[in-house]
Amino acid sequence: MKNKVDMSVEFAGLKLANPVFTASGTCGYADEMADFMDLNSLGGFITKSITARTRKGNPDPRIVETDSGMLNAIGLANIGLEKFIEEKLPILEKFKSAVFVNIAGETIDEYITVAERLSKEKAIAGFELNISCPNVKKGGITFGTEPEQVEQITREVKAVSGDKILMVKLTPSVTDISEIAKAAVKAGADALSLINTFTAMVIDIETQRPVLANRTGGLSGPAIKPIAVYLVNKVYNEVAKKAKVPLLGMGGIRTAVDAIEFIIAGVTAIAVGTWNFVDPGSCKKIIEGIKQYCMRKEIPKISELTGTLKS
Ligand SMILES: Cc1cc2nc3c(=O)[nH]c(=O)nc-3n(C[C@H](O)[C@H](O)[C@H](O)COP(=O)(O)O)c2cc1C
Repeated sequence: MKNKVDMSVEFAGLKLANPVFTASGTCGYADEMADFMDLNSLGGFITKSITARTRKGNPDPRIVETDSGMLNAIGLANIGLEKFIEEKLPILEKFKSAVFVNIAGETIDEYITVAERLSKEKAIAGFELNISCPNVKKGGITFGTEPEQVEQITREVKAVSGDKILMVKLTPSVTDISEIAKAAVKAGADALSLINTFTAMVIDIETQRPVLANRTGGLSGPAIKPIAVYLVNKVYNEVAKKAKVPLLGMGGIRTAVDAIEFIIAGVTAIAVGTWNFVDPGSCKKIIEGIKQYCMRKEIPKISELTGTLKS
């Protein structure tokens, strides 16, 4: 069955050329990476988080390498909604891959402002809601850690999103991720993405201070992969399969083997984050590697592999 693998997937009603995305925050707004990777060969591209206003983010140092991973405390540094529309959307409009805009904020109103304004833009296929942000109106409790908040933010953003796909990005820093997934689905999420980073810390033993100016940062990269695979499989079994809501899986993916693990665990598509910094060619290799695997296993369509984990 040489070259006969159908790599396309249907994702919340959207037909993607293949199941490989780049993860939010690791490829900027695309123009930064255009010299290093063929963005048109991707199934989808997710922008870094956009907020209603420009944000400078956290002070330096805001990145540190760890064993098999890294910590980042970028603090949602971004150019803000208006500049994004002016400067970046015209670049994204030219892409063949599906463009998802990741939205963040400090209040539900801020998320609504961004989603409502972008809901009319033809270049955008959908939104990814970054709910790993503190809700300033609720004393800084992270939106994504309470089912009631997740339900409210999903419902209110969905109401202004027009025909855009609404994907809610789950944080792993919760007691039961399925409860959060259920709340998002109940409120109308078209898709779920998981996982965001784990809050973590690195200490400099000479100064006896945290290495990051922010004290803590989000752990990503290969170190988190087995936990991400477990959480993906849990959400697939307990929520997504029955609700027929597609999952976008991420967390430490480096190779096609990693990507296939996520797909067997239950995701329709995967995203590569941290590994883009190590090898900007990794997405291309992953697409090819998935194809080779399907040929060897005589799987005619990659979509048939989703959720095929045997007991
Ligand atoms: C430097 C860096 C910046 C990130 N920025 C964002 C962001 O702006 N919004 C967001 O939702 N996730 C952000 N993430 C999280 C990733 O999208 C992804 O969920 C996480 O890193 C796990 O995937 P990975 O292990 O492949 O990197 C960022 C991750 C890194 C490493």
